Amino acid sequence: MIIKALYAGSFDPVTNGHLDIINRAAKQYDRLVIGVIANPAKTPFFSIEERKEMIKIATCHLTNVDIVSFQGLLADYVNSNNFDVVVRGLRAITDFEYEIQMAQMNARLFNDNVETIFLMTSPSYSFISSNLIREVHQLGGDISGLVPGKILMIMNHKRGIVSE
Ligand code: COA
Repeated sequence: MIIKALYAGSFDPVTNGHLDIINRAAKQYDRLVIGVIANPAKTPFFSIEERKEMIKIATCHLTNVDIVSFQGLLADYVNSNNFDVVVRGLRAITDFEYEIQMAQMNARLFNDNVETIFLMTSPSYSFISSNLIREVHQLGGDISGLVPGKILMIMNHKRGIVSE
């Protein structure tokens, strides 16, 4: 039996924290689908297409990963595409309350046998979020090591920063 997992998020942009989760989940499951989703609570910096392209670049070493985008209820997408697992990363205790609420609500909505599985984010990345990465970058701070080099180049380009 092939086990199919979904890792969904805004990925605005994908960071090394996300990639840590992606690399580990890709080892655990036969297929890992990365779902870029418009979160109505957030105003995106990168378009959905740009975010998908950045994830494609950052995950080109993985052969069992697909990148999609979708709208609406995560549970609807999970049910209609026959996923077995939804992967979430937990960075710190502060993520827990929000994540348990979401997991329990989703559990009501998922088809039978769909599970939310949590992976603990590596401590090297537990303090980062896409918003923080964008803010530090915008203000000229050094974010190298927190996003892949190619993603940093794309961010520089988008902000009109010329590489040396
Ligand atoms: N490393 C680094 N950063 C991480 C991370 C990790 N391992 N895990 C999460 N983050 C960051 C994200 O980049 C995000 O940063 P931002 O707030 O600056 O954009 C932040 O932590 C929160 O992440 P997350 O909770 O995954 O938010 P999200 O917007 O990326 O994804 C959805 C949330 C889209 C999955 C959720 O809102 C959803 O399912 N929406 C669909 C609608 C729905 O079904 N609603 C009902 C849910 S019960």
